Amino acid sequence: MSHIFTPVKSAVPSIQKVILAITGGIAAYKSAILARLLIKEGFEVRVIMTQGAQQFITSLTLQALTGNEVHTELLDTKAEAGMGHIELAKWADLIVIAPASANTLARLAMGMADDLLTTVCLATAAPVMIAPAMNQQMWSHPAVQLNVQTLGDMGYEIIEPDNGVQACGDTGAGRLPEPDMLLREVINFKARLTVPQCLTGKKVTITAGPTVEAIDPVRFLSNHSTGKMGFALARACRDAGAEVTLIAGGKVSLMTPLQVKRVDVLSANDMLQAAIRSAEAGCDIFIATAAVADYRTRDAAPQKIKKTQDEMILNLVKNPDILATISHSYPTMFVMGFAAETQNVEKYAQGKLAAKSLDMIACNDVSRTDIGFASDENAMTVFFADKYQKQPVELKKMSKTNIAEHLINLIGDVLD
Ligand code: C5P
Repeated sequence: MSHIFTPVKSAVPSIQKVILAITGGIAAYKSAILARLLIKEGFEVRVIMTQGAQQFITSLTLQALTGNEVHTELLDTKAEAGMGHIELAKWADLIVIAPASANTLARLAMGMADDLLTTVCLATAAPVMIAPAMNQQMWSHPAVQLNVQTLGDMGYEIIEPDNGVQACGDTGAGRLPEPDMLLREVINFKARLTVPQCLTGKKVTITAGPTVEAIDPVRFLSNHSTGKMGFALARACRDAGAEVTLIAGGKVSLMTPLQVKRVDVLSANDMLQAAIRSAEAGCDIFIATAAVADYRTRDAAPQKIKKTQDEMILNLVKNPDILATISHSYPTMFVMGFAAETQNVEKYAQGKLAAKSLDMIACNDVSRTDIGFASDENAMTVFFADKYQKQPVELKKMSKTNIAEHLINLIGDVLD
């Protein structure tokens, strides 16, 4: 018997008035579409453009799209008499900088106030979202990465750039996400501000992604897990106030969420050792989303195996159960598991809840192709240990980001 979960939301400062700040980059054209989408979504939008931005796109375009004068100068007698920089800073409920150039990132990280955009960012109490966009080589430069880290630590919300072919012909990370994705980020961020800080002071360890079990130096056994659910949970735990360690198995290529400590491992044995180290260092909540390979080769060949035989037999041995080991070794820790099944989903999930001594288990049907592995969406039923006397909760199909937020709220409820 399950029911649909309605999250408990705290009182939220509403976000209605958005400053869209555009800096100088080829991706500036996408901001015109973003301005339009924000307005369609019901936001009131004012635009700030740097000198560089105006080389790529005219202020007239943004003025026509928003119906408001575009702000470009810090000290402009006309503007200061009307909507000057302090008024703008106070007016905004949210500032979105898209695209944010390497230059603007550096000036913001230094706390400079040498143009309208940086000054407004210093003078505002509103949250600021930054969508960096630049050439992939620039994006990977340690100076840029350091500035992004600094800004994240200061509380700026960073929207990770996309990977792909860039306007300059290079391929890699640094593309501004498409306007509809940026809008989604804004909407999610607005929702996240409503997330109760239910994990403040808690230490959370999460396992994510597949494990990789070597056959020889070039081949391995693994699975289709991408780590998206675990990474979404890491962000949700961070947003709920937790200190998060994320143990990523195999070859997870997702960007590490800011302020999250990431430990990369390959095999199940390595993941278990990392989990024990994290538990020993102090951990209140352990969440196992990793798709751990059930078996590994008994002995990985030290040299590449030559294809001389028509058939070959791999001797496999069972891997340790990381979740059960942690749950049995640290009985006071809150432990949550996942169950991906293709049939009898709920029955198997409840069996695992008991066998692994879990506090909570979320089960999903991986035979459905529209959710689960590699997908951005998921749907789950959550079961609780008997001692909580809590009915199962059904989470209908939604983004993994939203599922993660619901799961964290449920953990918060149970811990309360
Ligand atoms: O037993 P099963 O693999 O179906 O259990 C799934 C749950 O147990 C997941 O939370 C998974 O991360 C965890 N698990 C683990 N170590 C294993 C196998 C599964 O931590 N060796």
